[in-house]
This record gives sequence, C-alpha cells and structure tokens, in this order.
Amino acid sequence: MCGIVGYVGPREATPILITGLKRLEYRGYDSAGVALLNGAGVKVVKKPGKIRVLEEAIGATPHHATCGIAHTRWATHGAPNESNAHPHTSNDGEIAIVHNGIIENADVLRTQLSAEGYVFKSETDTEVVVHLIDFLWQDGEPMERAVAAALRQVDGAYGIAVVSTRDPNKIVVARHGSPLLIGVGKDGEMLAGSDAAAVIEATRDVVYLDDGDYAVLTPDGYRTYHLEGHEVDRSVHEVTWDLDSIEKGGFEHFMLKEIFEQPSSIADVMRGRLLPDEGNARLGGILEHQFDLGRVQRVVITACGTSWHAGLVGEYMIEELAKIPVKVEYASEFRYRNPVLEDGTLTLAISQSGETADTLAALKESEQRGLTTMGIVNAVGSTIARETDFGIYLHAGPEIGVASTKAFTSQLVALSLFTLFMARGRNMSAAQGLELVQHLEVLPEQIQEVLKLNDEIEDLARSYKDAQNFLYLGRGYQFPVALEGALKLKEVSYIHAEGYPAAEMKHGPIALIDEDMPVVVLAPRDPIYAKVVSNIEEVKARAGRIIAIVSDDAPELQGKVDHMIKVPHTLPHLLPVLTTIPLQLLAYHIAVMRGADVDQPRNLAKSVTVE
Ligand code: G6P
Repeated sequence: MCGIVGYVGPREATPILITGLKRLEYRGYDSAGVALLNGAGVKVVKKPGKIRVLEEAIGATPHHATCGIAHTRWATHGAPNESNAHPHTSNDGEIAIVHNGIIENADVLRTQLSAEGYVFKSETDTEVVVHLIDFLWQDGEPMERAVAAALRQVDGAYGIAVVSTRDPNKIVVARHGSPLLIGVGKDGEMLAGSDAAAVIEATRDVVYLDDGDYAVLTPDGYRTYHLEGHEVDRSVHEVTWDLDSIEKGGFEHFMLKEIFEQPSSIADVMRGRLLPDEGNARLGGILEHQFDLGRVQRVVITACGTSWHAGLVGEYMIEELAKIPVKVEYASEFRYRNPVLEDGTLTLAISQSGETADTLAALKESEQRGLTTMGIVNAVGSTIARETDFGIYLHAGPEIGVASTKAFTSQLVALSLFTLFMARGRNMSAAQGLELVQHLEVLPEQIQEVLKLNDEIEDLARSYKDAQNFLYLGRGYQFPVALEGALKLKEVSYIHAEGYPAAEMKHGPIALIDEDMPVVVLAPRDPIYAKVVSNIEEVKARAGRIIAIVSDDAPELQGKVDHMIKVPHTLPHLLPVLTTIPLQLLAYHIAVMRGADVDQPRNLAKSVTVE
C-alpha cells in the first residue's frame, strides 16, 4: 500500500519523482503528492486522485529543486482528500515526510504532541511522526539523528522518507515492516523507492533495507544504520528485469498484456527446473539449503487473495501426489488464532509481491514457533523472499495490473514443481514423474492455444456485460479456479460474483439461479467430470445461463449449456493453469465494456502492506 519515491542529485527532481510515482501507482491511487527542496523552502503539492491530477497541478515550470520526496496513497487513516494526502509537514513547514504503513501508537503520540502545542492538519497517523521529529530535533544536529529518535518512539509499520530545509540536500529513509529500498545512481544521484520499479529508470543497483534500518542519502552516496545507532552494511543487488517489462508494450492495459505473457511466464518458472531424465524437478533454492524433505510431516500454506487460491490448488496436488497433509490458511486468520503447529510442519508462504503484511506476519509467527519456512514469491529481494529459509522464485517479471493474472498461473506451476519434487522423494515412480514433466513441458504451447480464444471470449463478454451477478462453479482442482474466476470479475468489473464448489450449490446458492444468473461451470474432463455434468443439469433445470469451460468436445453437454469454451487437455492437477485463462479474459473484457479502470480498480491496491 502506498508508494514512496525520493531523489537527490544534480538533476531536476520533479520529473524523476513523477515517473517513479507512476511506476508505483499500482500500490495505491487515492491521492498523490511531492515535497521539493528548491533552496527557498519546502514546496509541497498534493492532490486527491491519480498521479496525472498531481502532474497537472505541478505544471511544466521547472522548480529548480534537486532534492525531493513523493507519495502515492492507499488510504488507511483518514479519507482520501487533500489534507490527508502526503507529504505531511511540520508546523513551521521546514520538515516533510511521506509514509507507507500504519503507526499504531498514533493516538497516544497525537495527544502528547497536541499538549506541546503542535497543531494537526490531517487525520492521518503519519502526521504525528513529522511533529515528533520536529519536537525531538536538537539545534545543530543532523536530520537522521532526529528521525531515528522519533522512530524509536513509534510502534507499528513504516517505510518513510524525510526531507528538511534544516539539513538540505539530504533524504533520510527508514523501514520497519513496509518495503523500502535505495537506488544507487551514478554521477551523484541517489534514489529511494518502495520497490525497484520506482528507481529503475535511473539505476539498476539497489540496496534493500532491513526492518529497523534507516539510511542517509546525499549526492555523495548513502550510509545505512540500525535504529539502535550502529552503522550496518547492506549489499548492492542488481535488478535483472528491464524497463520493457513494466511498459504496456502495445496492449491497451497491463492486465491484458500480463494475460498474454503467460506462455512465457510459465516457460520462465520452469526454466532449468525440469529433469526429464530423472522424471523430477530441480529446485535450486531447496537444494542449496540442503533441507531434508523427509522431515516434512505436514505443510501449512499461508497466503492472501489470489495467492490463497493458488494455495488451495497446491493443497489438492500435494495431498494427492506427495501424500503429505496440507492445510491452507488465510494469513490474516492464521496469525491471530494460535494454531497448533507440530514439529515437522513446513510453512509455505505464497505471495506475488513478497510484501503482503498479513502473509509476512504469518511467516514470522511460524518462525517464532521454530518451524522451517518456504516461500513461493515473484518479487526478487522482497521481504518474504528474504525472510523464508528457502523458496522458489516465479520469475514472472513485474506484474503491474492490480488483478493478479500471470503470477497466479506461475504459482500453480511452481506448486506443481514442488509437488513433483516432494513426491519423487517419497512415493512417486520415475515413470509417473516423467509423465508430469512431459505435461509441464507443453504447457506454454497449450496456453498459446487458449489465448486464441480471446475474440470468442470478447463476444461472450458482450452478451453478459450487463449481468448483476455471476456464479462460478467447480469441483476438485477446479473449485479454486471457480473462486479465482469470481474474484477476477469482482475486482475489475465490480459485478458481484461467487465461486462455489459445484455440488455445494444445492445447499444454498441454487436459490439464486434464474434466467438472469450467468453460471460459469468449470467442466474439463477430469475424474469428477460426470458429477459436474449432473450439477450442470441442476442449473439448467432452474433456467440458469451456463458457460462451460471444457477440455474436449464434451458431447454430454451439447444442448445443455449456452456456451462452451474449449481449452486443451492435460493432467487434472495442471488443468487449472488452462481453465483459469478464459476466466481472466472474460473478467477483463466485461470490465472494459463497462468502462471500469481495469488496471487500477477502485479501492484496491496491488501490494497490501498493512493489516
Ligand atoms: C492484493 C492484490 C491481490 C493479491 C493479494 C495478495 O489484495 O490486489 O491481487 O492476490 O493482495 O498479494 P500477494 O502479493 O501476497 O500475492
């Protein structure tokens, strides 16, 4: 949630900050603002709405500022209006701060600071931090000392950047629980950002801060410290993806681009990991850690949103093929319910961003209980990737569309690689392993085939775009696909949709079915197909309009369904990779036809770094 950018160096800061903000807009888009140091004070411009509104407010006139900080907000405390927009400033206007996270003791601090005479102009938790910095700043001391003193009194999560006319040409950044990195530029340029996308136009060299770190950025370089006071050494990492991967590349929306990237993102998650000769997968992260998989008695998968749906598919796969009991938990529930975690439990956190606060907290809970932790993460160098003992990177490249698409299918494939690896170490024969490898190898081509259905699905979307509700049904491996299909539609088109196990429908949702209710049924030819056909009959008997996703000509369904979308066939546990894609396309086209902002749906953010 919320994106932060900072720049200090020889160039005009404003365009660099605005470009960085645009790259981070997926993190929140309720309001945006900048604070610029131009030798004559701190100039703050902030506006509710998207970054283009801020850009218009700033105008094209150069500000002659070579140091500044900027923010794009996803509101937590206070409505998304101008006074609550960041940056927030001290009462004398000499200090400005941008913040991502939640300050938990804000109310206590606000009371104390009000008693000291500080006047609050916003309802945000952030504003207490800037007044606290001001309160604690001793004459003549450097800004970082006052910032560190203030942060020692703050509870909660933060990524912050601070500038001040009292110590100009300097940015102090800090993190605890919310992501923040430094971009090490050339020729006297230093940057800061919530993720690498914010700085990549200037540099590929980044330094990830750890929780409890703060850093001082000046044209002469950077220094990193721990809040306790000592200097710390944080190494420079090179960002390996390029700018093209965060541009739309001719597509109308990032969501569509990312749906169409799936043949390559699926090839990338498998690259170098398939061992046809051994009928196995090579998972470098696990091998390097020399983890004894024989020790795993149970797997707890923890995740949120779309990643949680991938976890459900993982549960079915791991139990069926590797015969290990699995439990899938919403990270937000897991962390507060004091779960029973016996020795031999492996916690597997799944996250596209690697920054989701609830998933991270669930992971930390597991670590505190002494469990081994593993990640399936897309964002390289993200907090979850670094916190876990080992893991599998998706290598899907940056995902910008707020609704997750390519990351989901890559998570499914990463889970199938993990299942193969676990199963081959236990009960699965080399021949069975080889069969799985062979089916994985052809998945990218099969996805190409599915993408050819785009025009057909666009036509279908035209017929259903005005529906008020949708039901998605599936069984077995297709049940989580039904959940994901419904979530995609809700997220981007704002149509109410429910995903349900097809057979459970008769215990409630069947009451909703009439001629106005489109029902998407996942009906590929898997072992439960015959049962799904019966569930389709039940819907048809109530005049529901049925869209069936099938994996062959499905003669049993001819005349019983209104539309059939046919994807190629594969093994039952890999079918979700193929059956999900038509649902992504359906949600996309319906949303476009309804005029919704597909890449930045209302109220959502891609990376949810608050509880
Ligand atoms: C947000 C996003 C979802 C995503 C979820 C989990 O809600 O809008 O698309 O599935 O967070 O994110 P993660 O990065 O942990 O996969």
